[in-house]
Amino acid sequence: MTCRPPCDNVLLCAMKHLQQNSGNVHELSAKERVTYSRLDPSLLPQHIAIIMDGNGRWANRRHLPRFVGHRSGVQTVRGVVETAARIGLSYLTLYAFSAENWKRRPRTEVDFLMQLLRQYLKQEVPRLNRNNVRLTYIGRIHELPQAVQERLKWAEEATAGNTGMVLTLALNYGARAEIVDAFRSIITAAKNNGGIDHLDINEDIVSRHLYGAMPDPDLVIRTSGELRVSNFLLWQIAYAEIYVTGKLWPDFEGVDLLEAIADYQRRDRRYGGLSASSNRHRERASRNGAEHDHSFSSALAAQK
Ligand code: FPP
Repeated sequence: MTCRPPCDNVLLCAMKHLQQNSGNVHELSAKERVTYSRLDPSLLPQHIAIIMDGNGRWANRRHLPRFVGHRSGVQTVRGVVETAARIGLSYLTLYAFSAENWKRRPRTEVDFLMQLLRQYLKQEVPRLNRNNVRLTYIGRIHELPQAVQERLKWAEEATAGNTGMVLTLALNYGARAEIVDAFRSIITAAKNNGGIDHLDINEDIVSRHLYGAMPDPDLVIRTSGELRVSNFLLWQIAYAEIYVTGKLWPDFEGVDLLEAIADYQRRDRRYGGLSASSNRHRERASRNGAEHDHSFSSALAAQK
């Protein structure tokens, strides 16, 4: 059920939007609902990014050709996107093809993956619309085959009116290339705005010149057990929590996504600051009339 402005009945439209953006939890499977019941819906990560890995190994273990693993990986994409949309996640980013995949895989595998992507987009748009998901992309899209670029544009436009989760596919993507492109874009912007003497660079400006307009990921999930970030969103994951599962991507399910969120909710995110318990300690000290943690003052005095 989607509802987009203009809408004749403003109240009904507002209620539908509220429902769309808070997900459709009642559509979760029975197994998913059990795990979801352990989550705190008010503490969902805003943005989850996933490194999908292990299609080839999944196929090898079954003595099947690699392409069967990729096909099975697409089924997983379908399920995970749907579960994420149902719980009301705001942003999901999937690392579909790295710039390195391009250069280091046989031509036939790359061609197959391109074909799979085109098929996925064609088949998936109605389902994305049903789940109110908006599709976007990051990466050097202009280097992809023309037919793929056209299908990407079509799918992006066909889902542009959706107001729920933003699904970003990283395609021909590399984080270092993204940072290089951001610097180029900053320099071009400076040239067009009074010249290079007016070049101003800070973290906020770099962030604004990266590919996508989305908040930094709170949680990065990697399947297949590898402990690497593989040139994925290097700038944006500075403070992300990382969750690695040994499951190969085709075996990963909606319930595994919920398990990863449960694990995330048990973490103590400090952003270089102090843990919640240390903060409570400081608050207690301040309630007792102390402006500072006196143990530091005493240690400082003793050091002099
Ligand atoms: C890693 O498996 C995965 C990829 C190279 C690409 C992921 C692609 C899909 C899930 C299918 C297409 C996606 C969309 C959105 C249509 P691998 O081949 O590196 O596995 P291995 O490390 O076990 O060999």
